[in-house]
Amino acid sequence: MEITRSEQLFTNSSDSGDSVKKGEAGEQDQEVWKLVLTVIGIILGVLILMYLIRKFIQGGQYMKKNRIDGKVVIITGCNTGIGKETAKELAKRGGKIYMACRDPKRCEEARLEIIDKTKNTNIFNRTLDLSSLESVRKFAAKFKEEESRLDILINNAGIMACPKGLTKDGFELQIGVNHMGHFLLTNLLLDRLKESAPSRIVVLSSHAYMTGKINKADLNSEKSYNKVAAYSQSKLANILFTRYLSKKLEGTGVVVNCCHPGVVKTELGRHIVSGVWKNITSPLMSCFFKTAKSGAQTSIKLAIDPDMEKVSGNYYSDCIKFPTLNRTKDDSTAEWLWKVSEEWTGLAPKTEKSTIEIDISSEGKVVEKTK
Ligand SMILES: NC(=O)c1ccc[n+]([C@@H]2O[C@H](COP(=O)([O-])OP(=O)(O)OC[C@H]3O[C@@H](n4cnc5c(N)ncnc54)[C@H](OP(=O)(O)O)[C@@H]3O)[C@@H](O)[C@H]2O)c1
Repeated sequence: MEITRSEQLFTNSSDSGDSVKKGEAGEQDQEVWKLVLTVIGIILGVLILMYLIRKFIQGGQYMKKNRIDGKVVIITGCNTGIGKETAKELAKRGGKIYMACRDPKRCEEARLEIIDKTKNTNIFNRTLDLSSLESVRKFAAKFKEEESRLDILINNAGIMACPKGLTKDGFELQIGVNHMGHFLLTNLLLDRLKESAPSRIVVLSSHAYMTGKINKADLNSEKSYNKVAAYSQSKLANILFTRYLSKKLEGTGVVVNCCHPGVVKTELGRHIVSGVWKNITSPLMSCFFKTAKSGAQTSIKLAIDPDMEKVSGNYYSDCIKFPTLNRTKDDSTAEWLWKVSEEWTGLAPKTEKSTIEIDISSEGKVVEKTK
C-alpha cells in the first residue's frame, strides 16, 4: 500500500516527537542515576570516614599473640570497665587471675562472664576495698597464704571527681583509693613479686596528671576541696610513685610502668554524668570514646609484652612510650610523697620529722596537722 506524503510527514513527526521524548526521558534517567550515585558516594564516604575516625580513636592495639599460661596476676577494680577487659584478655591467654574488687557480688558476675567467654576457670573473686587499709592488709595476707608467687600486679581501680569524702582511715577519697590504697597493696606484695622475678607492676594513671599538683601543704584536701584537682593530684601521685619505685627496684627483676588508657567509655564518670544526662551523652560517648577493650590495650602490653621485661619507670599511652611533663620528674616531691605515704599507711612509724600527722580522734574524726 502506498503511503501518502501527509501520512509520511505525520509518521516522521511523531517519530521525532517520540525520540525527543525518549531523549528527554533518557536524560532524566541519567540525572536520577547521577543523583543516586552521588548520594551512595556521599554515604559511603561518610561511612569510610566514620570508620577511619573510629579506628583512630581506638588507638594502639596490642597485637602479639603470646600466652601467659600459669602466670599469677592480680588486677584491682576489674568487675567493670578497663580492668574487666584486661582480666578477660589475660584469662584468654592462660593467666591465673585474682580479681581484687570491693563488691563481691559484682565481682562474681564479672568472674562468671570471664569464665564463660574464655573457658579459663582459674579466675578468683577476692575482696579488696582500697578505701580501707585494713581491707588491703587482709587481702594481701590472704593472697600470700594462697599463692607462693605473683607475676603481674595491675593497679587499675580508680575513682574520679567524686564529692568530698573520706576513706575509713580518714584520707580524702581520691588520694586514698587511687594512690594510698595501691601504695600499701604494692608494698605488701613486693616480696612475692621479687621472689617471682622477672615480674611486673602496671599502674593506671591518666593524662589528667598534666593539670595535677602535689599539694604539700594540704595533700588531704582538708583546707579546700576541688574534685577535679584532687583527681589530677592522685594521678600525678601514680606517676611519681611509679618512677620512685622503679628506682628502688633496680636490679630486682621487678619492673613498674604506668599508663594513660585513653578517653574510654566506662563507669569512671559516674560522679560527673548520671541519670538523664547519662542516657543523652551515652551515644556520643560510643562514637568518640574508646571502648573498654581498646582502653585495656596499653595495660595488657605493659603486663605481658616480652619486649617490656626489662623496661621500667616509664609512662605509656596507646601502647607507646609517651613523654611526660617535668612535674613527673620532680625527685624531691616523689621522695616526699613516698615518705608521707609510708607514714599514712602505717608502713613506717611517724617520726619527729613527719611532714603530716593524721590522727583519728576518739569520735572517729580525722585531725590532720601539717608541720
Ligand atoms: N575511663 C577513662 O577514660 C580513663 C582515663 C584515664 C585514666 N583512667 C584510669 O583507668 C582506671 C580504670 O578506670 P575505668 O575507666 O575502668 O573506671 P570504672 O569503669 O569506674 O572502673 C573502676 C573500677 O575501680 C573499682 N573501685 C573503685 N573504688 C574502689 C575501691 N575503694 N576499692 C576497690 N576497687 C574500687 C570500681 O569498683 P565498683 O564497680 O565496685 O565501683 C571499678 O571496678 C582508673 O584508675 C582510672 O583513673 C580511666
